[in-house]
Amino acid sequence: MEKILVLDDDFEMVQAVGAVLSGDGYDVETALSPDEAIDKVKDSPFNLVITDLRMNKTDGIELMQQVHAASPGVPVVIMTAYGTVQNAVEAMKLGASDYILKPFAPEDLQAVVNRVFETSRDLSAAANRSGFLTRDPRTKQLVEMAVRIARSNSTVLISGESGTGKEVLARMIHSESQRSQGPFVAVNCAAIPDNLLESELFGYEKGAFTGAISSKPGKFELAHGGTLLLDEIGEMSMLLQAKLLRVLQEREVDRIGARHPVSVDIRIVATTNRELGQLVKQGLFREDLFFRLNVVPLRLPPLRERRSDIALLAVHFLEKAAAPLRLHLNDDALRLLEANDWPGNVRELQNSILRAVAICEGPIVQPEHLFLGESPAHRASIDSLQTIDGMERELILKTLEEKSGNRTHAAKALGISLRTLRNKLREYRMEA
Ligand SMILES: Nc1ncnc2c1ncn2[C@@H]1O[C@H](COP(=O)(O)OP(=O)(O)OP(=O)(O)O)[C@@H](O)[C@H]1O
Ligand SMILES: [Mg+2]
Repeated sequence: MEKILVLDDDFEMVQAVGAVLSGDGYDVETALSPDEAIDKVKDSPFNLVITDLRMNKTDGIELMQQVHAASPGVPVVIMTAYGTVQNAVEAMKLGASDYILKPFAPEDLQAVVNRVFETSRDLSAAANRSGFLTRDPRTKQLVEMAVRIARSNSTVLISGESGTGKEVLARMIHSESQRSQGPFVAVNCAAIPDNLLESELFGYEKGAFTGAISSKPGKFELAHGGTLLLDEIGEMSMLLQAKLLRVLQEREVDRIGARHPVSVDIRIVATTNRELGQLVKQGLFREDLFFRLNVVPLRLPPLRERRSDIALLAVHFLEKAAAPLRLHLNDDALRLLEANDWPGNVRELQNSILRAVAICEGPIVQPEHLFLGESPAHRASIDSLQTIDGMERELILKTLEEKSGNRTHAAKALGISLRTLRNKLREYRMEA
């Protein structure tokens, strides 16, 4: 049954809305203050929040942002009086799903709620086929929210710890957008030194600097008609931030050394694993750029906060890596995976599964194949870097990970025979 939270500081209003929706078979909870509402949202997930726009202290938009911080992507419907329609429209830009004008008849309310749930189902279907796997209710809503934003043209900021799936989400936003036929261009701002990043992003004209023997378009231009992913935007220098802000405002870029700007039609998706708001306070990130990027923030929770995804992803990676072999996780191995905190998130889980596939001989993946937690194998792998043998083992396992567990490719990359590789793996298994 779908759960709806109704918030208004007007008791009669809350009662009336609650009665209509309960009558339609929804599971309704009510709140008379924003604090009460936030507590309820933190307590359990809702499928819809309906809130008044203007209440005594907090306004509905602020509340919506708090709701989205606690439970990203949950649809929010704003109730508003006639005079404040402009605010409701503003709220839609900031992520509200719909609004309803007060006073309204029960049928109007039912129509809006039906519309929101219909859209949710549509978004949910899109989210399910998107390749971003999750069965955690809150993360699911976040992915649905991402699909909804994808269809608009707004700038998106995705934050989350390393390995949580920010790039997967960014690619999904591109493929679900009207730009899906256009290019998807990614730039990692952390990996490129600042002076190179500028020419990488903006391009240059022939003779703009020593070594510029011909003109070259930048990533902004290459992404024209499509999406530009700016990975690790928190690492960008203040100078480049100012230039980026100009691109976002003017929708045009100046190649280094060019006389005229070129106009570009791009959607920017930025990611960060740092707290950008914090960087702003420290004077390391421009506040105006932060506000421009942070229109609809998407915060991917770390894997340890959505443990129900661990088994889902583990089985997915196992099937992907082990094909055409059929491997299974035994219960102990699964429990061990689910209890682990995964500081490296989904990527670490994926690597762990690839290792297990390489190490495991029979059809069943057992705890000792996972190199996790307090198992002796794990301790050995930490001590191992002290010895030549240990380093060799690390190298072999890492290469296997990179080659998705394919022994033939790994042996080739390592410059050893397949037989030697097999023997080494057998040795490691005996040790474990
Ligand atoms: N929900 C998911 N479903 C399927 N695969 C996922 C999911 N999340 C992450 N992955 C996989 O996990 C790995 C890490 O994901 P991704 O590169 O998107 O993370 P990231 O947040 O961009 O990490 P970083 O901060 O290190 O750049 C990738 O191989 C990706 O395919
Ligand atoms: Mg990434």
